[in-house]
Order: sequence, then structure tokens, then C-alpha cells
Amino acid sequence: MCFSCFFGNPVFVPAPNIDTIVSLAKRRGFVFPSSEVYGGLGSAWDYGPLGVELCNNVKQAWWRWLVYERDDIEGVDSSIILNRLVWKYSGHEATFNDWLIDCRKCKGRFRADKITDNKCPSCGASDWTEARPFNTMLQTKLGAVADDDPAALAYLRPETAQGIFINFLNVQTTMRRKLPFGIAQVGKSFRNEVTPGNFILRTREFEQMEMEYFVAPTAEHSKLVDYWVEQYLEWFGSLGINRENLFLYEVPGEELAHYSKRTVDIMYRYFPEREKPWEELMGIAWRTDFDLGTHSKNKLDAEGKRINPDSTEDLSYFDEAAKQRFYPHVIEPAAGVNRTVLAVLMDAYSEKTNDKGETRVILKLSPQLAPIKAAILPLAKNKPEIVGMAKAIKRSLQPVLRAVYDDTGGIGKLYARQDEIGTPFCITVDHQSLEDEAVTVRDRDTWEQERIKVTDLAEHLQKRLKPFPVPESI
Ligand code: GAP
Repeated sequence: MCFSCFFGNPVFVPAPNIDTIVSLAKRRGFVFPSSEVYGGLGSAWDYGPLGVELCNNVKQAWWRWLVYERDDIEGVDSSIILNRLVWKYSGHEATFNDWLIDCRKCKGRFRADKITDNKCPSCGASDWTEARPFNTMLQTKLGAVADDDPAALAYLRPETAQGIFINFLNVQTTMRRKLPFGIAQVGKSFRNEVTPGNFILRTREFEQMEMEYFVAPTAEHSKLVDYWVEQYLEWFGSLGINRENLFLYEVPGEELAHYSKRTVDIMYRYFPEREKPWEELMGIAWRTDFDLGTHSKNKLDAEGKRINPDSTEDLSYFDEAAKQRFYPHVIEPAAGVNRTVLAVLMDAYSEKTNDKGETRVILKLSPQLAPIKAAILPLAKNKPEIVGMAKAIKRSLQPVLRAVYDDTGGIGKLYARQDEIGTPFCITVDHQSLEDEAVTVRDRDTWEQERIKVTDLAEHLQKRLKPFPVPESI
């Protein structure tokens, strides 16, 4: 039976806003509001059975693409809590601030840079306190110490990057690397955001995928920024993100971070319904030699003084060919896992409406990202032979791909559920399967069905579970 016959010419409608994804995510087990049993915790989210798979698939795709498929990148996994001096010399203790203002009338507190018309978003008044800096690193205390012991203060990392810089020499020497080469890290970061919100777009706890690409001081840094922008546009394309929903923002000088000489942000159309639809998906920065220099014991300032009297290492590099020692420069593509997941979900979302006006949601996820690759569905759940065969097929597929068995509804409902969570293939076991040792494989996107021998099934599915091809326009 082919469902496309019933549905005529499909009309696809992309996600009209983030709220559509919030509702789907909760309904289908991707993302839940955190701590709901206690009334929730503002802007904190828990990833459910499908959400954790999707996040893992995004991270694995990224790791495979950079660390396995290229030959110039290594991986690390550093501590989340680092020596406090890391954050002193990286500049985060002094400068990782949001500027806050309070409304004198309603006592509301806001980020100064987000108030554009001088009016309080809560009460409309224009009576503000002076702006003051608020450091957004999340603090903790190490050990069994008194509450006010300043020596126990530590931070949860606000970026994964510093764990890479302080390991530069460890990686370079143990892996016998020559420039240029990169180090990648994926993991949690924390920021005490003043105004978190918009679902998983801005949260206080989030995950980053960062890579520091180390090059000579004489390299063409700006061209390398462009190169990594292109690389990431292609990668996002392979995840199913439409190039039309991405926008490049050349960060102007006055907005650059203290370490950056050039940054290009790749923005995604998270708010298609708004006048300003774009928000940052990732940034690609030329961080100069700032970080390796600032953590090094031998680096001197303009007056000839050591800039870091606390460091015991020198993170410089000796170039054998040029017989020169220097601090490598860094090109840093820094992406958010959660923002990538949100962009992927928004771009994959589609609705199909039939002649009767019935609407089905289909999540057209790239097969490599789909939480479940194949759902095995018995056509008759009261027939032990069919159920047994379906469960055996699930077990045989599991070592090669993520498969589930589901008999919790009629076949139409089961197909609809799998379409909505983005499962590329539904495999139906019917009465005939008992005779011919074959099953029906239904494609999520075309709803076309074909009969495949059980012995050929794993190979057949694996061949079709390839990443989306990168669109020609990129
Ligand atoms: N090491 C450079 C760095 O951290 P960033 O632009 O502050 O640069 C990189 O962060 C990426 O991390 C952002 O483009 C975004 O995808 C993600 N990110 C940053 N803050 C976030 C937050 N509060 N919630 C979710 N993702 C965030």
C-alpha cells in the first residue's frame, strides 16, 4: 500500500517558528523542560530518548568530519573545571561581562545592549540605573571550605577552547605534529546568561564543538577564516540545513572579542516570523597568538615584562624548516551543539496536507542524524510468528544501525509516528513475510515501498543511510 496515493501532491511547509519545534520536541520525546516536577528551572532543558540520540549523532558527525576524515586534526577532552588562573590569563575574569541595567520603576533587570528604544520591556518606563558589568562565568567552590574562602573559588568553563590551548604542547609533542594542525573538543560549557531563552538557543548550560587550528604567524589568516566558513557551510549542508537559511555576518571591529582580529558569524534563520530573523549559529574567529602567548611563561609585554608570572610552561613552537620559535596563531571555528540541533530540527520540519485537509508532520532529518534509522513493525501483533520474526529482524539489525520494534498501534498510526520523529525507514513484517522471507521497506520521504529479502536488508539499509549530498549552490 502506498500512502502517497492517498495524499496526492504533497505540499511541504517548513517550521514557521521555534514554538512549533518546542511542541514537537516535547510531544515526541526530544526535549523536555527541566525539573518540571518542581515547577521547572528557567531556560533549562532535558534531552529525552530521541533528543539524546540526535545530539549524539550531531556530535559524532562533527567528530568524524574533522578528526577522522581529515588528517590534520586531533581530539581532546579536557576538564570542565580548570585552574582559576586559566580564566585570569585568558581575560575571562576581567572581561567576560554582560552590562546590566535596572529599571527603577519595576525593578526589572536587563542587558543594556538589548534595550534599543530606552523603554523598559516590562513596564515601559525609561528610568534606568547606570550600566554595570556582570561577569557571566558560573562560580563554584572546590573542597570542604568556608563559604567566603576566596582561594576555593573556581569556574565552570564558559568555553571549551581554553582546555585546548593549555594542552597545545601536550598534543603537539605526543602526536609529533607540525603546523598547521588543529585540536577539536566537544563538551559542556556554562554561562550565567542574564537573559536566557528561546528554547535551547540560549541556555546557561550548553554544549560546544570547538576546534583551534594552529598556523604560523605568517599564514594568510583572513583567507583561512574564509576557508573555514566555506567548510562549515558545506558541513551544515550535509546535515540538511538549507543554505538560504544561513547568513554570514562580518563582525565589526567594535564588537570583536578581546582576542580576535577578525570574526565571521554564521547566522541561522531561527525566527522566520520576525523582522530580525537571524541569530548566531557559530563563529569563526582569528584569535591571533593571544591565547598561547597569554598562558606562556616567556612571553613579554611591550615593556619587556613577563605577561604571565604564574605559568610554568612556554607554549611556543619551533619551526624546524624556518629555524624559528614563535607563538602560533589560531583560527577558531566555534559551534554550539544545541543551536545546531535546533537549526537541524527547524530545517527538517515539514508538513504534508492531503486532499481532505489532514496534515502530517514529517521530520526530514538527514539519515545520519535520525535518532532511529529503522522501525520494525509487525502487521498483526496477535500473530506470534509475525511478532517473533519482526523482533528477530530488529535484533539482527541492531549491531549495524539503531533499530526499534513497535507494535503499539495500527500500521497507519505507526508510520505517522515514525515520520514525525524522522525515522528514514519503516519495515513491515506481514503474513507473506513468513512465506517469502521478505519484508516491505517504506521510505519516509517518498512513502514508496519495496519488497526486500531479509538476508539483504542490513546491506540495503546501510547503502541508503548516507548523509545528504551537499547542494550544488554552496
Ligand atoms: N570559544 C569562542 C566562543 O565560545 P561564542 O560565540 O561565545 O565563542 C560559540 O560561542 C558558540 O557556542 C555560539 O556560536 C553558540 O552556538 C554557542 N553558544 C554560546 N553561548 C550559548 C548559550 N548561552 N546557549 C547555547 N549555545 C551557546
